[in-house]
Amino acid sequence: MSVDSANAPLRERILILDFGSQLTQLIARRVREAHVYAEVHPFDVSDDFIREFDPKGIILSGGPDSVRDSDTPRVPPLVFEFGVPVLGICYGMQVMAAQLGGRVEPGDLREYGHAQVCIDGPSALLDGLQDAQSADGRRTLDVWMSHADKITAVPAGFVPTSSTPSVPIAGMENTLRRFFAVLFHPEVTHTPQGAAILERFVLKICGARPDWEMGQYADEAVARIREQVGNEQIILALSGGVDSSVAAALLHRAIGDQLTCVFVDHGLLRLNEAEQVMATFADHLGVKVIHVDASGAFLSKLAGVTDPEAKRKIIGAEFVEVFQQEAGKLTDARWLAQGTIYPDVIESAGKGKKAAQTIKSHHNVGGLPETLNLKLLEPLRELFKDEVRELGVKLGLPAEMVYRHPFPGPGLGVRILGEVRRDFADLLRRADAILIETLRTTIDKETGKSWYELTSQAFAVFLPVKSVGVMGDGRTYEYVVALRAVQTQDFMTAHWAHLPHELLGHVSNRIINEVRGINRVVYDISGKPPATIEWE
Ligand code: XMP
Repeated sequence: MSVDSANAPLRERILILDFGSQLTQLIARRVREAHVYAEVHPFDVSDDFIREFDPKGIILSGGPDSVRDSDTPRVPPLVFEFGVPVLGICYGMQVMAAQLGGRVEPGDLREYGHAQVCIDGPSALLDGLQDAQSADGRRTLDVWMSHADKITAVPAGFVPTSSTPSVPIAGMENTLRRFFAVLFHPEVTHTPQGAAILERFVLKICGARPDWEMGQYADEAVARIREQVGNEQIILALSGGVDSSVAAALLHRAIGDQLTCVFVDHGLLRLNEAEQVMATFADHLGVKVIHVDASGAFLSKLAGVTDPEAKRKIIGAEFVEVFQQEAGKLTDARWLAQGTIYPDVIESAGKGKKAAQTIKSHHNVGGLPETLNLKLLEPLRELFKDEVRELGVKLGLPAEMVYRHPFPGPGLGVRILGEVRRDFADLLRRADAILIETLRTTIDKETGKSWYELTSQAFAVFLPVKSVGVMGDGRTYEYVVALRAVQTQDFMTAHWAHLPHELLGHVSNRIINEVRGINRVVYDISGKPPATIEWE
């Protein structure tokens, strides 16, 4: 495995070793929010890797295992000998305690959720931080816990720093060796002081330089791309989504006309989307974009197909086919650029992890075949989504485009239940546009934000069932549209959004009045899990 950012050796960085927690990526995000660059790697990296990475500090993540089982993950011994500060979180604390000579025992009960820890003495990690005060005058922190085992004796040289009523040692540290640990999760927003704890660790304790900033990163990335690509030609599949858009803007800044974007319109985009993409990139930024209207080919391949996975596969395969044809015409191209972002890289880097069960096969340009014989360029592979957005704005993309809700690769193909037809897509596009326009223009009084900003993803779904209605004097027998709006941090779990009733009523009225063919609108009030965000 190589070090992802080997090209930027001057930047000081934090190494996060992943013991399998769902939350590990959040640690990296919090550290980067403190403007220090961090990368996540599997817990069992080699000594050579650690030396080459040359971290300013190391963070051990949480994980699902118990250190009391013999075949569970352990920290590479070099971590404790490397001479930089180490912070263990949850399993990371337990494994630190176990490996350095402390005692870990089964807890009396599994602790999961909110807890209040008392800070029991001076702590280099927790000093000055406080949410409230205990009855006996100690500082307390509101935290989020998720663990079964507890530490009953700290290793030699450590002192306990905090406790809860059920956990006598919720934190420990050895300031001489600069080893720190907490049993709770500072990386989640449910721990209000969590970001401050991680910031203090990386800035004060590790002494890392806070130089991770998107404006500066853009300049570095531009220089790197120029050096890598020279005067060769690049092609990029531009979807109009945030990642490919920002990749296009970055590459265009770096190498201008050596970039050609191929925009494949599969006929399943949102209302006016193709025009907007062309206006932003071709007209406004002056990027070379080949617009391929392939809607006929996609829709004819989809005719009669009702199974969601079969639809996804057809759309994915057809996309590759169309793109390949266009790419084949650009005989000078030597590079294929993709908008791969850091979370995709981390997931595929996690060796030794059980493959996550496939719930839906996601269609991404990642499936483009190697037969194109092009070198791969992934200019965003170090960045989290929020960093990609920030970079997009710095590169001059409209905030409205960069802060758009995510849109699935197969587009309306998975929002038209059952068979995908052009007439269904046309109805759905109009209904969806009414919902989105209303969300954008309805401002919540309490927060001053629009409901578009207050939701993470919102869209309309076409239900190919007819129901009876009445309009004027006549009876109607027309299709149903479902509205979906969710709030979520990570799209793995989501709540349905409590949109104001007036907003829903307004959208429903407009859709039924303006979109002939729809006479009923329903609102989806299912959470994820058990429902997914998309209906297919
Ligand atoms: P689900 O429906 O699985 O969606 O709860 C979670 C997030 O993933 C998006 N999604 C997709 N994105 N190709 C994509 O690129 C797909 O096939 C696909 N299916 C779902 C969905 O919009 C949501 O943001």
